[in-house]
Amino acid sequence: MIKVSGLTKDYGARRAVHNLNFNAQQGEIVGFLGPNGAGKTTTMRILTGYMPPSDGEAIVAGYDVVEESLEVRKRVGYLPETVPLYTDMVVFDYLKYMGDLRRLPDVEDRVDEVLDMVGLLDRAQGYIGNLSKGMRQRVGLAQALLHSPEVLILDEPTIGLDPNQVVEVRELIREIGKEKTVLLSTHLLNEAQNLCDRVLIINKGKIVAEDTTENLQARLLGAERVVVKVRGDGDQLADTVKEVKGVRKVETLEDGAVEFEFASGKDLRPEVAKHVIKTGYDLLELRPLGMSLEEIFIELTSYDGKKK
Ligand SMILES: Nc1ncnc2c1ncn2[C@@H]1O[C@H](COP(=O)(O)OP(=O)(O)O)[C@@H](O)[C@H]1O
Ligand SMILES: [Mg+2]
Repeated sequence: MIKVSGLTKDYGARRAVHNLNFNAQQGEIVGFLGPNGAGKTTTMRILTGYMPPSDGEAIVAGYDVVEESLEVRKRVGYLPETVPLYTDMVVFDYLKYMGDLRRLPDVEDRVDEVLDMVGLLDRAQGYIGNLSKGMRQRVGLAQALLHSPEVLILDEPTIGLDPNQVVEVRELIREIGKEKTVLLSTHLLNEAQNLCDRVLIINKGKIVAEDTTENLQARLLGAERVVVKVRGDGDQLADTVKEVKGVRKVETLEDGAVEFEFASGKDLRPEVAKHVIKTGYDLLELRPLGMSLEEIFIELTSYDGKKK
C-alpha cells in the first residue's frame, strides 16, 4: 500500500514535485507516466526513504517514509533508474551480499529463489559484467525482490532493453504485481497501457490525470488519426478521402500523403480504403498515428479546463 498526500519536493529554488496525491493498493500495478524531468525519480526516491520530501506525507507499507524510514526500507523493493551493479562480482555472490546487508535468514536459499523467479538460475555463477543489459535488469529486480517486500518501486524498469527483453521484464512485473503493490515509472504510453491497472500522468511535477488504463485510453482516443498513402501523384487524394462520410480534418502532408481523423470507436479505415481504391488509386499504406506524450498532455490539460 502506498498513500501519498500533498507531497512536494524542492531542490533549492526548483520545485521538482508539487502537491502529489495518490494511492496504490496491494495487487495493483500503478504507472507513473511522464516525460523526462517530470518528477518520477524524485517521487520514487522519497517513497523509498532515500530522500525526505520538502512538504507533505507518504505512507508506504503502513509506515511514514520520514519518521519510520527503516521500517519502510524493510518492506520496499527498489529498482533505481540506473541499477548500481558490481560488474566484477558473480551474480550469486552479489545477491548474497545484498541479502547479508539486509540480515536475511537463509540467504543462500532465498537467493536461489529470486534467481529462479527472474529466470537467472543458470547464470548464478556468471559475472555481472558478462550479462546483457536485460539480464542485469533482472539481477536488479532480483535484488529488489530479495527481502519479499510488500511494495515494489521500479524506476523505468525497461529502459535501454531490447524488444525481447522488454517483453520478458514486463511479464515478470505483471506476475509480481498480482501479489504486491507495484509503482513503476515510464515515459512510454504503450508501456503504461500494457502493464498498469491504473495510470498517473505526471508532468512538470504535477499529476495532470489519473485513471484506469482503459478509461484513459477512451478519454484520449476521442478521435483516431490515420495517414493514407497512394502510389504516384496523389493530387486529388485529400478530396477523395473527404468524400467518405465521418472523415474529419483532412490534411495533405508534404510527401503527398493525407492525414485524417474519425471519431474513435468507428473505424473508417475500411471505408476509406475501398473508396480510395475505387477512385483508381493504388493504395500503399493506411497507418494509424499514435499520440505522442506531448499531445496527450495537451489533450488532458485542456480537457480538464486547466491552463497549459
Ligand atoms: N539532485 C537534484 N538536484 C537538483 N535538481 C534535480 C535533482 N534531481 C532532479 N532534479 C530536477 O527535478 C526535476 C525532476 O527530475 P526527476 O525526478 O529526475 O524527473 P524524472 O525522473 O521524471 O525524469 C527535473 O527538473 C530535474 O532537473
Ligand atoms: Mg527519472
